[in-house]
Amino acid sequence: MGDGAAPDLNRHRRPALAAMWAAAQASVTCTPRTFRTIIEPFRIHAVEPLRMTTPEERAAAIREAGYNLFNLSARDVLIDLLTDSGTGAMSRDQWAAIQHGDESYAGSPSWFIFRDAVTELFPFRHVIPTHQGRAAERILFSVMGGPGQVVPSNTHFDTTRANVEFTGAEAVDLVTAEGRDLTSMYPFKGNLDVAALDELIRARGREHVPVVMVTVTNNSAGGQPVSLANLHEVRAVCDRHGVPLFLDACRFAENAWFIREREEGQAGREVADIVREMASLADGMTMSAKKDPLANIGGWLACNDDALAESFRNMLILTEGFPTYGGLAGRDLEAIAQGIREAVSHDYLRYRIQSTAYLGEALQRTGIPVVMPIGGHAVYLDARGLLPHIPPLQYPGQSLSVALYEAGGIRSGEIGTVMFGLQSDGTEQAATMDLVRLAIPRRTYTQSHIDYVIEVCQAVAEEASGLRGYRITEQAPQLRHFTARFEPLR
Ligand code: F0G
Repeated sequence: MGDGAAPDLNRHRRPALAAMWAAAQASVTCTPRTFRTIIEPFRIHAVEPLRMTTPEERAAAIREAGYNLFNLSARDVLIDLLTDSGTGAMSRDQWAAIQHGDESYAGSPSWFIFRDAVTELFPFRHVIPTHQGRAAERILFSVMGGPGQVVPSNTHFDTTRANVEFTGAEAVDLVTAEGRDLTSMYPFKGNLDVAALDELIRARGREHVPVVMVTVTNNSAGGQPVSLANLHEVRAVCDRHGVPLFLDACRFAENAWFIREREEGQAGREVADIVREMASLADGMTMSAKKDPLANIGGWLACNDDALAESFRNMLILTEGFPTYGGLAGRDLEAIAQGIREAVSHDYLRYRIQSTAYLGEALQRTGIPVVMPIGGHAVYLDARGLLPHIPPLQYPGQSLSVALYEAGGIRSGEIGTVMFGLQSDGTEQAATMDLVRLAIPRRTYTQSHIDYVIEVCQAVAEEASGLRGYRITEQAPQLRHFTARFEPLR
């Protein structure tokens, strides 16, 4: 932890330390410099062995898995970049907090520690714990969605969209034009198109728009941030029409760091303070604690409206649990509370954002097309750009992700025609883009792991023209990417 998040054990020694510091400065022999190397702001406290595999073992494993990386046993994966969700390493202080967990059914002290940590950054009147993000989404939309309703967002994440649609409502993505342009260097490509939002609410009628969602950062559109200015503008449109605004805030800390780094007038501001301003613009939020809150499980739903909170809690009791634990163990609540505090540390965020950029920029330098600028939690490879000889309906993203596994044991995720191509009438269409996401688990891999990833990607790119397309041999009618089986084309 850094930035004052840890207790100041030296507070009684301050005057003595100041004198020592002055003396040390007077005797400095080399010029103070800043160094380019990004170091992990932690050292390793418990190790988890990685299992090395041979190319032959990997070829057999992926064939067995029907060429679907979700079907692999994680034991057969060397560097797992499938997701940054729940895959991060917890800190010493989080493990200590776990020991402090109190498993009382109602009113556990761990609940109050959790609630206070959440409201310190997100000062909503009501906080409702859930077992993960999609549970918060299900409760939110079962109360606010329904047939005839439309829910706009910058870009809905797949579970958010699925939970909106499950209630019979329509989910609409309104990201700005820059956000749809893979090569645009616009600093806030996650922004919501406010003119389009205003038009949608006018066209459909305020009574058919129960809530506006803004996802920070915008995962489905490259992990790109949303600016504070855009959030203010969205708030103004919502106010004009009397529609509530909710944040899908999974990657709030990474988004706030980008605001601090890129937005005019925000440099030098405390990230925690930026987060509080983001929260102050919303009427509520959903959260997956598996992302920026640095936990392996958990989430929450929060809002200011008393009547709405009452409906949420009634729904929560039905399927998640009593409102002071919401489907989580007391120890999970404690790990999340500690994780939220660590998530806004500047030392941690500087490393997090720079190390993701380190991977993306190195790949770009070797000529691999990537979504620019590099987002917060992941690097997105443009498989369609790298494999122009594989038509979208032969799944270039799948081909690239299988090749990365075969070559170096790296597990990535296809975000393209496999994920989005199947239409509700059973026909297939090319997705807008064929991307492969390399999602970086938090505080888990070191720079040498990432250097290895760069080397493997480069080797695969050198042989890109020899990669083949795939055909699907088995698939489910919805969310087929999780279970489909494939066969390489000759
Ligand atoms: N919202 C966003 C923006 C997400 O990225 C996710 C999950 C969720 C909601 C749902 O949260 O998994 O706790 O139920 N994203 C993961 C990913 C799965 O790989 O991007 P959850």
